[in-house]
Order: sequence, then structure tokens, then C-alpha cells
Amino acid sequence: METMRWLEEGYLELLDQSKLPLEVTYLKCKDYLDVADAIRRLAVRGAPAIGAAAAYGLVLGASKLQALSKEVLISGVEATAKELMATRPTAVNLRWAMDRLLNRLRLAETDNVSELKSALLAEAKLIYQKDLDNNRKIGEYGQALIPAGARILTHCNAGALATAGFGTALGVIRAAHEAGKNVSVYADETRPLLQGARLTTWEMLHDNIPVTLITDNMAGYSMACGRVDLIIVGADRITANGDTANKIGTYSLAILAQAHHLPFYVAAPVSTVDLSLASGAEIPIEERESTEVTHFNGHLVAPAGVKVWNPAFDVTPNRLITAIITELGVIGQPYSKNLQAVMS
Ligand code: MRU
Repeated sequence: METMRWLEEGYLELLDQSKLPLEVTYLKCKDYLDVADAIRRLAVRGAPAIGAAAAYGLVLGASKLQALSKEVLISGVEATAKELMATRPTAVNLRWAMDRLLNRLRLAETDNVSELKSALLAEAKLIYQKDLDNNRKIGEYGQALIPAGARILTHCNAGALATAGFGTALGVIRAAHEAGKNVSVYADETRPLLQGARLTTWEMLHDNIPVTLITDNMAGYSMACGRVDLIIVGADRITANGDTANKIGTYSLAILAQAHHLPFYVAAPVSTVDLSLASGAEIPIEERESTEVTHFNGHLVAPAGVKVWNPAFDVTPNRLITAIITELGVIGQPYSKNLQAVMS
């Protein structure tokens, strides 16, 4: 199943993840506003997938610009990138992808507008393809840390659906499975939007990897009962000191892992690392609509009008993270020094 595909007629198709697992449908995005809308309402989600989709979105935006010069094209593309970046603030991969495309334009040796637009598409395709390659590498580095027979708890969906393919956290699990390690998975359902229940279990069942679905509040007891050997999650932004933003509930898992003396791994490509931020306190945390909490499957399940707080992500302090698995290798403490060294 492809998360997204670029059609040579000049548009993007996105697997509509908001409908999974009940319906497999692709959205046709012919305009950057279609892509922005899909990102906003989580039809495409997961940090690397958002970055790749936005890159194609920027290509769509650029294709409609009637620019007669490189300068005019760049200023139009900058404005479109700004709009795309405003869709979801936490995953830094979105900004990273926009910067890459803009740099490709700025550094291009041609002034020919049509050649510049083609260069943008080439860069978007590269981002997509590179993400797939990176996930394979993350899988290889990560699976070396997984003991045979490991029972692995994961949160949200950091799988093929959240990336160009294979996945980060689920990529490590897939690689361990491919290596014959006989691993099994506990998937947190991941309230409020159920990415674990809807997407992670779907991916694992598809690959015949044994998976058990639990609600988020069962994670602690699963650990206390000795049912979990390690935890592995993805990331939306990792700051210079290793603090990591990921789906709301990740921080609680990291605390639980520490209390039960279990390894807690983060798997992410280096496009998720933001060295411009010193610590997790600086990460913008997206807050979403109250109806995601008050409603379940379209039905109101709380008193009408009740006050709601709905942060979509939390920050896990670096001290709770056993290692960060990237395509460049496994990074351990002290993250401030080691992330910088790997990134340079
Ligand atoms: O709100 P979502 O579904 O986009 O949140 C996704 C996550 O938190 C993932 O764990 C993260 O983006 C890593 S995906 C490889």
C-alpha cells in the first residue's frame, strides 16, 4: 500500500488515512490547498509523510504560479511554503522539506522558470525516495538492538503509513521480523484519533507480525505483568539535547519504561532533528479541536460544552531515552554532543 504517489499527469494521490482501516481510498490533490487540507485533517500524517506530501504540495503550488522570472517564482514559492508550514506546527520534517525545495531553487544555476519548476519536482521525488532508503537503514541499525522473542510496545503509528514506506519504529520491528527474531507487538490504541488501533495493527496484520491491541491506559499494567520487553516509538521533532516530541502519551510511556527498567528507544530520520532548538521546551505543540476528545466516531460521548484541552504531542526528556536510532547509526547519551557530531 503506497502512502502517496505522484502521477506523471502532474498531481498527487494520497492514501486517505482518516478512513483506514475501513476504507482504502486515495485523494486526488491537484492543488497545494488540497494537500494543505489533507495534512490538517490527518488524511496524511506522521512526520516524514507530512514532509514528503508538503514537498509535492509545493510543486503543485509552483506549477500554478505565472512567474516570468526566477525572483518572482521564488517569492511565490516562499509564500506557498509558509502556508503549508502553518498546517501542523510540531513535526519539523515539514519545515525541513520546504527549506530543501527552496534551497534547490535558490541554488539552481538556471533562470529558466520551467526548468526551475522541474527541479522542484525532482527534489520532491528525491525526498520521498530518500525517506524510503533511510527507513531501511533505521531498520537495520535498530533491529540489532532487539533481542530474539522481544515483545515490543509502540505508540501511535510510526510505520509505512507515516513515512514514504517501511516506517521508523515499525521499520525496526519489520527488520527484526525479517531477521527471524520472532518479535511481537503491543499497539497502544492512541487516543484521541486511534492511529495505533486503526493504522499500526493494520500494518502489522498485513505483514503477519503478531500484534495485540491495548488501550493507552493498559500500558503500565502490561509492563508490570512482565508482558513488555522494550518500547520503541517515532518522533516529530528531536532538539539538540535529545528531547523528543512525539504523539501525546509518549512521555507517560517513557516514565513507565523507566519505572519498570525497560529500554525506551526513539527511531527517526535525521530530518526530524532540529538543532536550532536547544531543548524540548521550545518545541511548538499543536493543540487540536475539542471535538476529537468529546466525540467518538462522530458521536458525542461527553457532556456538551465541557472544557477540553487537546495537545496532539508531548515532549519526552532526553534522560528517559535509551537511544535514538537514525539512518546514520544509533545515538546514545550525551545527546547534546553525539547528535551534533552525527549531524555534522
Ligand atoms: O498526529 P500524527 O498522527 O501525525 O502523529 C504521528 C506521530 O506522532 C508519529 O509517531 C511521528 O510522526 C513519527 S512517524 C514516523
